Amino acid sequence: MIDIEASVLSADFVRLGEQAIEAEKAGIDGLQIDIMDGQFVPNITFGPGIVNALRKVVKVTLDIHLMIVDPERFIQDFIDAGADRIFVHQESCIHLHRTLQDIQGRKIEAGVTINPGTPLTALEEVLDHTDIIQIMTVNPGFGGQKFIYGQLNKISRLREMLEKRGCKIPIAVDGGIDTKTALLAVNAGATVLVAGSSIYNSKGSVAENLAKLRESIKQHP
Ligand code: DX5
Repeated sequence: MIDIEASVLSADFVRLGEQAIEAEKAGIDGLQIDIMDGQFVPNITFGPGIVNALRKVVKVTLDIHLMIVDPERFIQDFIDAGADRIFVHQESCIHLHRTLQDIQGRKIEAGVTINPGTPLTALEEVLDHTDIIQIMTVNPGFGGQKFIYGQLNKISRLREMLEKRGCKIPIAVDGGIDTKTALLAVNAGATVLVAGSSIYNSKGSVAENLAKLRESIKQHP
């Protein structure tokens, strides 16, 4: 089963709640909310208040993707706001092992995300405290960027690394996912696809765009 999550970074911020409801009604498996601080990435987006507002209008999984320095400072704030899962970047955590333990200790799922330039070896020592791994297929900060095809090999190597260790950790892929790249990511080993522009900024409705994405991965063996 492949999950597709909508990244609200590409939604219409004037009617963010409606767009979240639209995605939920269309059958999205989760919403990913990109939290950016203008330091870890060159953009600033949302805070716990927006998560709290969206929590009030949708029941679907809320994934919080922290693209901020010292993410440990805000874990509880996002949990209180209604997060179901929190992704921290390996590159932003001085004590990644402790941070992931801390998130799991607070009874929500802990995800770790790595940027295109970060090798898989950075994950080897934290697999026991990770519920999901997210591979960035763009450099973080903005929606609508081009998929970095060179990351496909990394996704496959991660899948192999997990299988060798008997780890059933799902692999999420975030960035440039559309009807052309979705199947490539799935064939490489992704089981969660995060899509922003292809759901919110493409021609059709959210429901039509989601259906096209699901159709595009049907050929997956
Ligand atoms: C980058 C963001 C984007 C977003 C997805 O920091 O994390 O990857 O979620 O945006 P699209 O699908 O437009 O690349």
